[in-house]
Amino acid sequence: MDRIADWPLPLDIPLPLPADSVLLQALLVLLFLWHILFVNLMVGGSLLTVVFQILGRRRPDFETLARSIAGTVTVNKSLAVVMGVGPLLAVNVYYTVYFYTANALTGEAWIGLVPLVTLAFLLTYVHKYAWDRLASAPALHLSIGIAGAALFLVIPLVFLTNINLMLFPGRWLEVDGYLSALLLPNVWPRYFHFLAASVAITALFLLFFFLRAGCPIESRLQTLDRAALRRLFYGIALGATGLQLAFGPLVLVTLPSQGMSWYLIGVITIGVTLALVAMHLMWREIVSPRPSAMPRAVAVFTLITLTAFAMGYGRHVYRESAIDEHRDLVAAHGREVRWEIAAAHWRDATGQTLVKVPLGQRIYESTCAACHAVDRVVVGPPLTEIAGLYRDDPAGIVTWTEAPYRKREGFTAMPAFKLGEEKLMAVAGYMIALGSGEDPGSGEDPGPGEDPGSDTDPGAAGEAAAEDRG
Ligand code: HEC
Repeated sequence: MDRIADWPLPLDIPLPLPADSVLLQALLVLLFLWHILFVNLMVGGSLLTVVFQILGRRRPDFETLARSIAGTVTVNKSLAVVMGVGPLLAVNVYYTVYFYTANALTGEAWIGLVPLVTLAFLLTYVHKYAWDRLASAPALHLSIGIAGAALFLVIPLVFLTNINLMLFPGRWLEVDGYLSALLLPNVWPRYFHFLAASVAITALFLLFFFLRAGCPIESRLQTLDRAALRRLFYGIALGATGLQLAFGPLVLVTLPSQGMSWYLIGVITIGVTLALVAMHLMWREIVSPRPSAMPRAVAVFTLITLTAFAMGYGRHVYRESAIDEHRDLVAAHGREVRWEIAAAHWRDATGQTLVKVPLGQRIYESTCAACHAVDRVVVGPPLTEIAGLYRDDPAGIVTWTEAPYRKREGFTAMPAFKLGEEKLMAVAGYMIALGSGEDPGSGEDPGPGEDPGSDTDPGAAGEAAAEDRG
């Protein structure tokens, strides 16, 4: 559905936001990053656990590492879940109708998360605690780990599909259940980007985890030493960061283009640059490691953290501009519906019908008619003349009215009226129609953006509140 006018318009909720919108957005971005860090460690950790366990069949050191990593997964998954409450709440409050719609359209998968997550957690615990007891049945033990890791791969996909669906109001009518939402553009590139990030972040985390002073792992390894661990985890982190760079452009080109801007591209470029510097440092650590591991590890960690901030912020910038236009339409639709309801109550109570005067006519009559009549000069030129000048260019009237200048001999100057795009476009359309001798009421679709025209304005209270959500 290309025409935005055809998009489904849910009703907004005419309540003021509970906090300043900038604060809410900042919270959303920061809490989300904090949450996704632990999700990354949970997903990356469970993946590396099973991969290392498989490698451990040939090289026992990897089994030792796998066992240690499994110990971190259960902790990180608990943190991921608890830290998920914050962004969930923030997204709920700030993107209410978008989040609601995405949830409603993929409800079965949402509910399915509960048993899936429960099962995944149980499997990870069994895998971790039954390591010795299942030593005689290694295939069974490994299968439990693989099943847990596989579930951990599915769970973020459900969330991601859902959040992605918020960005596609134009496709909502086509979505029929979770599986069809999975086929929307952007889902898969974004998912693989996320998986690569999970592995990269986890590898960096494990670098710190195993190289920290006093880590007992070294005494338990047979052939691997600290230097080898360092190369190993930098190698994984470097490869996975490279994969992210490869998926990044795919993520961008599969997004609806109305959210793109040079500002966003600037933010992403900063993120990519930081990541490239981090990759360079990782590479240096692999080919010519410094005697002391920590300074460079801290530098890499800082760069990657800043990259994550840039990307997390960029993602938010994108989302804001992608749904901006639709959000205005939703708010206008909400005003419209509330006006209709109030007018119906008024009719029941008084028997009177409220007449809705189109926005353009209201502005004309209240603001322009003092100087512009239809076919004679009052103070300014008549509408017949204006219609002749601007018949195919109503936006030209908007430009003029915001900044008029001296044009005609013998006329006074017209004052500027900065009433905003919506009102000025409406009055422009109205003046052109009236000046061309058309019936301005019939031709023009009053549209949802229009205000109730009566002095008795039953929608006003709700409207003021709705604008707060802007
Ligand atoms: C106080 C008197 C006054 C009011 C109020 C006024 N105008 Fe004007 N308008 C003028 C005058 C005078 C001119 C001619 C200026 C000139 O040509 O130098 C003019 C010219 C115009 C023109 C012709 C521009 C062109 O390119 O020739 C447009 C369009 C216009 N007005 C739109 C509006 C709209 C829309 C409103 C209401 C929002 C409005 N005016 C309100 C006095 C007014």
